[in-house]
Amino acid sequence: MKRSHIFLMSSMLVSLPNLAFSAEPVWKDTSLPSAERAKALVSAMTPSEKLQLVVSHYAVDNGPGKSSVPKGAVGGAGYVPGIDRLGIPAQQITDAGLGITNPNNIRPGDGATALPSGQILSGTFEPDLAYQAGQVLGKEAFHRGFNVLLGGGGAVLVRDPRNGRNFEYLGEDSLLAGNMAAAQIQGVQSQHVIATAKQFAFGAIETNRMKVDMRIGEKEGRESDLLAFEIAVKQGKPGAIMCAYNKVNGDYSCENSYLLQLPKRNWGYRGYVLTDWGATHSTVKSANAGLDQESGASFDQKIYFGKDLKEAIAKGEVSKGRLDNMVYRIVYSLIDVGAYDHPAYKSDQAENVAADEAISQKIAENGIVLLKNHHNILPLSSQIKSIAIIGGKADQGVLSGGGSSQVTARGGNIVDHTRIQQWPGPVSYFPSSPMKAIQALVPNAKVNFAAGNDIQQAVDLAKHSDVAIVFATKWSAEGFDSANLQLSAEQNQLIEAVAKTGKPVVVVLETGNPVEMPWLHDVDGVLAAWYPGTSGGPAIANILFGQVNPSGRLTTTWPKALSQVPYPYIEGAGKIVNADVLAVKQYSSDNQAVSSVNLNEDGANVGYRWYEQKRLTPLYPFGYGLSYTTFKYKKLILEKDFDKDRHTMIANVTVENTGNRDGADVIQIYGKIPGETTSRLLGFRKVYLKAGETQTVPVPLFSVSLAHYVPVKHSWEIISGNYEISARSDSLSHDALKTNIHLDQIDVQD
Ligand code: BGC
Repeated sequence: MKRSHIFLMSSMLVSLPNLAFSAEPVWKDTSLPSAERAKALVSAMTPSEKLQLVVSHYAVDNGPGKSSVPKGAVGGAGYVPGIDRLGIPAQQITDAGLGITNPNNIRPGDGATALPSGQILSGTFEPDLAYQAGQVLGKEAFHRGFNVLLGGGGAVLVRDPRNGRNFEYLGEDSLLAGNMAAAQIQGVQSQHVIATAKQFAFGAIETNRMKVDMRIGEKEGRESDLLAFEIAVKQGKPGAIMCAYNKVNGDYSCENSYLLQLPKRNWGYRGYVLTDWGATHSTVKSANAGLDQESGASFDQKIYFGKDLKEAIAKGEVSKGRLDNMVYRIVYSLIDVGAYDHPAYKSDQAENVAADEAISQKIAENGIVLLKNHHNILPLSSQIKSIAIIGGKADQGVLSGGGSSQVTARGGNIVDHTRIQQWPGPVSYFPSSPMKAIQALVPNAKVNFAAGNDIQQAVDLAKHSDVAIVFATKWSAEGFDSANLQLSAEQNQLIEAVAKTGKPVVVVLETGNPVEMPWLHDVDGVLAAWYPGTSGGPAIANILFGQVNPSGRLTTTWPKALSQVPYPYIEGAGKIVNADVLAVKQYSSDNQAVSSVNLNEDGANVGYRWYEQKRLTPLYPFGYGLSYTTFKYKKLILEKDFDKDRHTMIANVTVENTGNRDGADVIQIYGKIPGETTSRLLGFRKVYLKAGETQTVPVPLFSVSLAHYVPVKHSWEIISGNYEISARSDSLSHDALKTNIHLDQIDVQD
């Protein structure tokens, strides 16, 4: 007999009163559905216990101004005290998507694994690696005592190549970003840690982010960023969604009822919505719009979900039922991911550092993109006698992006003391030296370093070496956008000077976005290593020397120049406006001007679709990336598969590895829906083929990418007509195989 049944029976049978004490309450019964347990918990709570759960408190230091690190907090972005008598654990909340952060060294000396940036993870085109990344995040959070991770589902679409946070996102395509986020969320939550899909929604630029109003039509929104979130939320089922700083169509995201109701009403979302830190602006409006938890309350002008919420409920401005629903959603998520039944705990021993770092390295090796390989300069020969390593602190480490997602590596980061020190800095490198990793691969070669600030010294070193590898860096961080797409003038001059030596030159870029490369024609190889994480050094070395055959692809279009992007001018871009966010004034919206961005400029045609619509040829298209082998697409056969909520068709692609090295190809299926002028990614699949091997690979095509959103019907539909479907190795490839198929009209569930 189930324990809950004993409980129910015993409460009915007055003659057996003792059984009631020995039985466990409904919410402890792990055999019951999470919803039932959560409902029982809410009905057992007092009003003040309920209010306690809907506000989190900053748990890093005693800023901004008001708070102190709450007692019982592990020390991270947030803390909500638990309710012991009901077994509800404290919510111990940490950043974020690239690794477990340790802001202000609040947990002295606690370093963690940093995963490669979002461009790399999405560039693998492998949801399974996203799942593994999520597992690393979940495990490392759990063993530090955290049960809520403010990441795992960074699904903002990349619309502008200057955005300081693009390294936290998963590219410009909603299907890819949504699927990768969903897999990562599941990985995190497999470890009993809540993952967060964020930032909801449309944070296309960081400049003026506390006040900017992102304006976008319903159809355009649903078919772009909201589609990425829809996939992430429906498939990944995150415990939490974080609403963004910016406004959307006039209302702050965190009090925008259209936005906050969408997951709950349309996507079957059962978790809760929490705000970004400093993104709450009201009590009644937010609560009634669907906000469930105010985060890091000291960042707000006042605590909106404390006594103000209590008063609003007393006055009937917010219903009791709404508060119950907020609390229900929070405890539902805690139960559903297992955080209620398996409390997170601190344990240094439980961490398998080598395994976690191996996953970080594997992701880097599978997602770093080879952009140029003139005359097959790469892979470099292991017989090489002398190598000049130049610039980018490559003798010490690899660059990382800044802001709240900044991870501290084990052993500490290498800080660039000549640059910004306060938030979102300091500019930090992870101690994973590409130079040391290269030397380890070629122990007999002379490997020498020139820092790059003395151009003549670098040139002299290159002249006396068989090959020069120049590391060029550009720092991106949360809170600001880059003013342009340029590397520093000094780095461009350095590369040009080294290229003039006539020696073979390979450039390794460690950047948070695409950059202009005025020297592109003068160098032999270019590797986009983005921010490659705490095992970036060996990953770069392994690709350069062919231990690994590169297979990463671009998940954002690489423009020739800013004139090609949809928003060429961003007023204020490049200024770090929120340099000191630990002062409440700086974080508040009051010191920023109201501005708006009309996102209908590219609308649903984000990224490669914008380029297609405008007939612009970028420098490198979405999906592009070279390999040390070659692939040929030989046959494309479509097979209808009407599981209409997920897949409509399977594209069977026969592909051959025509080179003489084993390697992986990313098969991409694009299609045009009748009446539309731009192509969409309909499905993708990475396949590993031995040299000379041929395989026929089934690539499922997602219904939602074939559908379009019909605002008057509030739903998606696949329209009847002829669809041109092509298999490509990138969004513009000329070797595409094409075929046509007729589809009948189908309504796709919203
Ligand atoms: C960021 C969030 C982060 C939060 C808490 C904010 O600045 O936008 O992504 O989770 O801080 O640190």
